[in-house]
Amino acid sequence: MSRLGQIKSKRAVIGIVGLGYVGLPLAQAFCQQGIKVVGFDIDQEKINLIEQGKSYIHHIGDEVIGAMRSDGLFEATSNFPKIAEVDVIIICVPTPLSKHREPDLGPVLGTGEAIMPHLQKGQLVVLESSTYPGTTDTELANVLEKSGLKKDEDFYLTYSPEREDPGNETFSTSTIPKIVGADTPEAREMVAAVYEGVISKVVPVSSSRTAEAIKLTENIFRSVNIALVNELKVIFDAMDIDVWDVIDGAATKPFGFMPFYPGPGLGGHCIPIDPFYLTYKAREYEVPTRFIELAGEINAKMPQLVVGKTAQALSLISQKALNGANILIVGMAYKKNVDDMRESPSLILTELLESEGAHVAYHDPFLPIIPHTREHDELAGRESVDLTPEIVSGFDVVLISTNHDGVDYQLLADDAKIIVDTRNAMKEFQGRAVVVKA
Ligand SMILES: NC(=O)c1ccc[n+]([C@@H]2O[C@H](COP(=O)([O-])OP(=O)(O)OC[C@H]3O[C@@H](n4cnc5c(N)ncnc54)[C@H](O)[C@@H]3O)[C@@H](O)[C@H]2O)c1
Repeated sequence: MSRLGQIKSKRAVIGIVGLGYVGLPLAQAFCQQGIKVVGFDIDQEKINLIEQGKSYIHHIGDEVIGAMRSDGLFEATSNFPKIAEVDVIIICVPTPLSKHREPDLGPVLGTGEAIMPHLQKGQLVVLESSTYPGTTDTELANVLEKSGLKKDEDFYLTYSPEREDPGNETFSTSTIPKIVGADTPEAREMVAAVYEGVISKVVPVSSSRTAEAIKLTENIFRSVNIALVNELKVIFDAMDIDVWDVIDGAATKPFGFMPFYPGPGLGGHCIPIDPFYLTYKAREYEVPTRFIELAGEINAKMPQLVVGKTAQALSLISQKALNGANILIVGMAYKKNVDDMRESPSLILTELLESEGAHVAYHDPFLPIIPHTREHDELAGRESVDLTPEIVSGFDVVLISTNHDGVDYQLLADDAKIIVDTRNAMKEFQGRAVVVKA
């Protein structure tokens, strides 16, 4: 049977490189359809956990991994020669920014180097990591072609952006429409067939570059709109108008308006990073990217703004300074109901407040301990404090940075002195605490 036939009849074996927030749910989606998956990662700890039937991602339970394993559909390995045994290779490794805020394609091209010696004729390679146009058809292709095999002649190389939204209860991997971009009709048919087996709607587009551009456009759209409401927050605050009421009112318009909400700054692996993949690439074409950069600038200033508001609240309400104040940050993850704290503004808030002499503790039901991170590693090992009336009343300020469900906001209203609320989390709760929106 041809490889396309194997894919269509769900008999192809799928290799997934990078078993993180994107790769692991994707493996789950294939296994749920009875399709065999071999997962590859360089993190031996993750491989060991999977081999023991355990998960390391909050919203994927141990029982999910256990079932995938006991059905004999999922194995995990760091042994890259096994790439030769799969039919499709899907790459879901990180695409971070370097210290100088430039794209770091190290993990993507490193993965290319690792699979290149084992690449087989007729295999389909799909890149899912968010990146700038040209990564797939030029940079990754150049690495893979070192095998002696030629893209479009000997193997297929395509791009299909990940649209995973961890914590979203309405949409999951299999119900979010999937863009697939390929440079030849054969490659497009192959890649569409792979995802049609597991995803309800597949949207083929004309090239891998178009698909790469679609992903960046989606995230830039978010970044720019969040910057706009963050700016409106500052403007309306000066006019003593509540931006949350404004957005709720505007959102009643059934067309031409889409609500975005302000916050303490951008977080996560996508929105603070992906726009700069495009601004970097645009420099090669000498095209200005002022709008995108301005949005980044406004969003990046939000943590300082929140610290300023906190200092002002302390001074006006308690006649105290930040220096020496005890502050409890509620929510260390970058968004509600997830355990992911990559690029979380709460980390920046902690550092900024401590640089002013404040003592900072945190509460986060999803993150009992702060793990190691690239840019804020000095905070690793700190532990979440419990929320009890005694503990909460001991703080000068409670700063709500992430509005997780399951936090006892009424307790905060009853027992905190000042609440600085960056998420409108206290909307429904009243008590003795003075609530200041920031
Ligand atoms: N997390 C999201 O919600 C999300 C959403 C859309 C797009 N994306 C994009 O998907 C990609 C992956 O993101 P993620 O959140 O899954 O990252 P992650 O850090 O959770 O997972 C990446 C995995 O890849 C592994 N890895 C790193 N280098 C490797 C290598 N050279 N070979 C093999 N494995 C390697 C890591 O050990 C890790 O397990 C990124 O490009 C990201 O921008 C993420």
